[in-house]
Amino acid sequence: MDEDKSRQSELKPSLSLFDAVSVSVGAIIGGGIFVVTGIAAGLAGSALLVSMLIAALISLLTALSFAELTAWQPKEGSIYEYSYQLVSPFAGFLVGWMWILSNTFAGAAVSLGFAYYLTALVPCLNPNYVAAVVCLAFTAVNYYSVKQSARLNNILVTAKLLILAFFIIYGMLFMNPTNFAPFKPLDVGVLSGAVFFFFAYGGFARAAVIAEEVKDAKRNVPKAMLIALAISAIFYILVGTVAVGLVGPNKLASSNSPLEEAMKATGNSAATFTIALGGMLATASVLLTSVLGVSRMAYAMARRKDLPQALAKLDPKRNTPIYSTWIIGLIMTLLVLLIDLSKVVAISSFAMLFFYTLANVSALRLKTEKRAYPRILPAIGAASCLALLTFELFASLQSWIIGTACLLVGAVYYVAKQKPRKQ
Ligand code: ALA
Repeated sequence: MDEDKSRQSELKPSLSLFDAVSVSVGAIIGGGIFVVTGIAAGLAGSALLVSMLIAALISLLTALSFAELTAWQPKEGSIYEYSYQLVSPFAGFLVGWMWILSNTFAGAAVSLGFAYYLTALVPCLNPNYVAAVVCLAFTAVNYYSVKQSARLNNILVTAKLLILAFFIIYGMLFMNPTNFAPFKPLDVGVLSGAVFFFFAYGGFARAAVIAEEVKDAKRNVPKAMLIALAISAIFYILVGTVAVGLVGPNKLASSNSPLEEAMKATGNSAATFTIALGGMLATASVLLTSVLGVSRMAYAMARRKDLPQALAKLDPKRNTPIYSTWIIGLIMTLLVLLIDLSKVVAISSFAMLFFYTLANVSALRLKTEKRAYPRILPAIGAASCLALLTFELFASLQSWIIGTACLLVGAVYYVAKQKPRKQ
């Protein structure tokens, strides 16, 4: 009977390598390229693509650590499980806690991003209400079935990549080489640009978080993360180069929808509308994978009694975590009705750098015979994440204070929860 029960609470592998790549690309390409490109261009100038490259390299180091850990042990919850086993249960709890925080806030932020793009086309709508409806709709899709949400995700990912490919190819015809002058790749602003653009690569490890739902996960999940990161980096660098070539960094920096602004330089309104549509599709797919990932992390934490056990309950018919999916969806919905977009993005990045650091530390602690890469790689990965975290202290003190406060709330919850067990 117990066996039956435990089998009932197991997730089933139903996703292919293609689905897994798509889940990660779905989680990566969104608000970062469509919105943060403007902020990064304002800091890095026409050397924006150098910022994009630096951010890609730092992300790659952490992605290698994730790949190594998943090849060792594909586990739903990913870095939460690895920090738990390889660092300490307390570190594992904090990683899971900050992961949920980072992705819940990022999910709320991209729903608002979606709403802003939509209301730019249909101004009579209220962006907060639009964002709330979008949150609820995507939660329902995730609850209905993981296979269903992976299918919708595949459609959204294909559409956003096609639209970005259109931006690159069509935009290239209208580029003006003088927009690249002055080109200062060694300017300190290039590093600040990289710090902000780092947000745009977040999400590559989403396939690892749902590892138990991927077929042949030991092979497919590490591959999926690295392929997804490579696809995103190539698209970002080409899009960034064309965007600067079209209007120059200053015009990009002055817009909330920089890619749409860049496309306006072609004088083709249908092309500009297509890019706005791309912004909506991209933010929608990041939202879809945010709900998916956060509900699965809550499921994994509840399975280990780190969060209330009700969150691990699966719907017997749909095999999806009922309460964790709906509670996360409802929290995101509340956030979009109450939050300030820029704060949410900064808090999300703080939490992301925290758990990326722990991912590298966990990879460092893997035994030699289980290693695929030399220890120097996760060591540099951890150092680069800590350097960005320190840099963020100066760039956004408020996000540090709020992020640290959330970390402390998590720590207090963990300690309080331990006490009754000891009695
Ligand atoms: N990387 C994700 C995005 O850019 C968070 O929307």
